[in-house]
Amino acid sequence: MVPVRLRWPPGLNPRRFLAEVWQRRPMLLRGALAGITSPITADELAGLACEPEVEARIVCEQGVERPWQVSHGPFDEAAFAQLPATHWTLLVQDVDKHVPTVAALLAAFDFLPEWRLDDIMVSWAEDGGSVGPHLDEYDVFLVQVQGRRRWRIDSRPDPPSALVPDLDLRILERFESEQDWVLGPGDVLYLPPGVPHWGTAEGPCMTWSVGLRAPAWRELAADWLQHAVDTLADDGRWRDPPEMHLPAEPAELPADVTAIIRERIKAILTGADDQLFRRWLGTYLTEPKPNVVLLPPEPPWPAREVLALLLAQGCLPRDGASRLLFLPALGSGDEDLLFANGDCHALPAGHAGFLAALCRRPALEMAAAAPWLHEPRCIQLLTTLFNSGHFLTPDVASHA
Ligand code: SIN
Ligand code: CO
Repeated sequence: MVPVRLRWPPGLNPRRFLAEVWQRRPMLLRGALAGITSPITADELAGLACEPEVEARIVCEQGVERPWQVSHGPFDEAAFAQLPATHWTLLVQDVDKHVPTVAALLAAFDFLPEWRLDDIMVSWAEDGGSVGPHLDEYDVFLVQVQGRRRWRIDSRPDPPSALVPDLDLRILERFESEQDWVLGPGDVLYLPPGVPHWGTAEGPCMTWSVGLRAPAWRELAADWLQHAVDTLADDGRWRDPPEMHLPAEPAELPADVTAIIRERIKAILTGADDQLFRRWLGTYLTEPKPNVVLLPPEPPWPAREVLALLLAQGCLPRDGASRLLFLPALGSGDEDLLFANGDCHALPAGHAGFLAALCRRPALEMAAAAPWLHEPRCIQLLTTLFNSGHFLTPDVASHA
């Protein structure tokens, strides 16, 4: 069972959590996901780690000199057969993209904006297994799903951040444990970015890390600049001004030349209207990683069959690899936009309610969609998404 709601401890609710805890301090949420069980076993996780499109690591902790060793997937059976009995961890990234029943947990984090959610990493550790003391640059909810893990953290301001040199892993050279807990199934530990932590398996255990996404300004700027150049720069090139002066010194770069070029570049980079900028951002934020692909149903379904399925099931469960965001129109003359794995679809203003229903995790609910299904363009958009693989066909759903 994968809960789709967090159980907040007495006195705490999403509003208070965001106001007082979020990005401020770590918090242990005992039993917040009580009853959680993993839809995938350790063996199935190992199977995923053997798939070429899946990002996986094994961290082994052996010896005194160089205790942490990492190897990267895809693995084969022999790699698992060679592992020692204890002190290793298998970590698989983006399991939500590959296993829709794991992605269902993201619904429990709907008190956060969807665009900030990145992935669910699943780790399986044998007794004593750990990835060493480290810090992450993102917020994370560490969900204990099976077995027990001891977490030690250092939540002092400005903790030491020097790393052990010459390792493939980012392990802190010095780590002081300030708080120490053992988590059991259903316990959740929230950590803001930059808090040193160290989780050690107490017996075999499975942990899911719900990781947040915080795009780096450099990455955003690089993508936006390329987009602006592609869409706003004209094909022309430098032309001399009508009144050319004789140069005092032929090799001198004249001040008016630098000014003209600067102005032209500024116009390209800042010339986008709101629509263009918003379309770029939604597309950028829903663009999947290269190894994440949707599987469109083959052959495509006609609209009436998609609607019949929605009616029969009462919902259309989302595929884990589907990333949907929407942006309501800003004003009159503007459109409501839906972004779907890097594609942009537009509906006339006034359809934000339908787009919100489409984007809801873990499934599009019939009750939420029904008021819109008399509109041909809504049916068409739903059918387009279905035939791009955003929703599970019954075949896939029963195997997930
Ligand atoms: C783990 O699941 O073993 C490591 C997660 C983390 O420390 O970020
Ligand atoms: Co970490």
